[in-house]
Amino acid sequence: MDFQLTEEQLAVQAAAREFAQNELWAGVIERDEHQKFPTEQIKKMGELGFMGMMVSPEYGGGGMDTVSYVLAMEEISKVDASCSVIMSVNNSLVCWGLEKYGTEEQKRKYLPGLTSGEIIGAFALSEPEAGSDATMQRTTAEDKGDHYLLNGTKNWITNGTTASVYLVVAQTNPEAKHRGINVLIVEKGMDGFVTGPKENKLGIRGSDTCSLMFTDVKVPKENRIGDDGFGFKFAMQVLAGGRIGIASQALGIASGAYELSLKYAQERKAFGVPISQHQAIQFKLADMATNIDAARLLCLQSAHDKDAHQDYAKSGAMAKLFASKVAMDTAVEAVQIHGGYGFVKEYHVERMMRDAKITQIYEGTSEIQKIVISREILK
Ligand code: CAA
Repeated sequence: MDFQLTEEQLAVQAAAREFAQNELWAGVIERDEHQKFPTEQIKKMGELGFMGMMVSPEYGGGGMDTVSYVLAMEEISKVDASCSVIMSVNNSLVCWGLEKYGTEEQKRKYLPGLTSGEIIGAFALSEPEAGSDATMQRTTAEDKGDHYLLNGTKNWITNGTTASVYLVVAQTNPEAKHRGINVLIVEKGMDGFVTGPKENKLGIRGSDTCSLMFTDVKVPKENRIGDDGFGFKFAMQVLAGGRIGIASQALGIASGAYELSLKYAQERKAFGVPISQHQAIQFKLADMATNIDAARLLCLQSAHDKDAHQDYAKSGAMAKLFASKVAMDTAVEAVQIHGGYGFVKEYHVERMMRDAKITQIYEGTSEIQKIVISREILK
């Protein structure tokens, strides 16, 4: 593995850093406090190429590699993890899945809008009774010849109220269990499709999460992705790549909290010296820096595996498992280093601590990552 980043990768990293520092810091506290969706910021991210980074230029994407995506995700997540989850779902789950398995017509219809940030995509797998056990789909897609009749409810859908295009997982043939599942492209505005109210969340409050309700929604047959019954494999494959994105989000939250802590520790004085001169703080900073470097290596390893067309289910799950723990631990320590200031909003680290938690839950809990890793080891 080459540890040297290319000129192009360094340029993407620098562009993402500049954008995040210049355009996301201002307003991040307000967006968090009022659960305000970053409409303008996402539009700009589309213009800069961050919404469809790995999609081929033929469909309006940046044609970049997964390593570049990890670098950009880290920089954006350092400042605003709400923006980065919107970006991650759009890139990894929606655009990547559509480009890899969609028909030419589906790609031409949806990818240019999704990559430019003109429209946003959502991925709808979770249900009230199907979270970790994703095979237990209650949403049904009844085959009616030229269309499917979609009925059911989805939960916890990132980009739920703001998306225009939804990749919806549904059961067509229950007897075939997970091999009877399909993924359908559902558009906002289709008759019988409504979204629920925004969830009032602990973290990533700028991003919108809601339920989706489908009542006799007629979805044309040409909106199915892949062959009949391919839906579960499709979901597992996009999630395997999605975990690299969420791992990078966790990495970014950790490095953001660390950078603020380092700066604060060098400025804040106690007992006559900056607190960075006290060993108690030095040990915390050393642990943070070590863990973050290890998490970054795992993120880059999994991205490298994907770019090299090697299996990345295990390395992606490892990256997510480890980086999300590092995000949580680092953010908690960042609040501790900041003392009382860490407990108030204007110092940012309390938000990072709240944002970090979801990285251990979505796109598979930490326990699910361990299942994926151990199965790969034992198979
Ligand atoms: N690639 C391709 N196929 C895969 C695969 C992969 N990475 N992983 C599994 N499969 C296939 C298997 O080969 C198997 O196929 P066959 O039976 O045809 O051979 C099929 O899928 C079933 O596999 P398993 O028997 O391993 O399935 P399982 O039910 O025992 O459990 C699981 C699998 C890993 C626990 C899975 O259910 C899972 O990942 N659960 C977590 C779901 C999740 O991540 N949800 C997140 C929702 S999206 C989200 O959070 C987005 C957001 O908001 C940010």
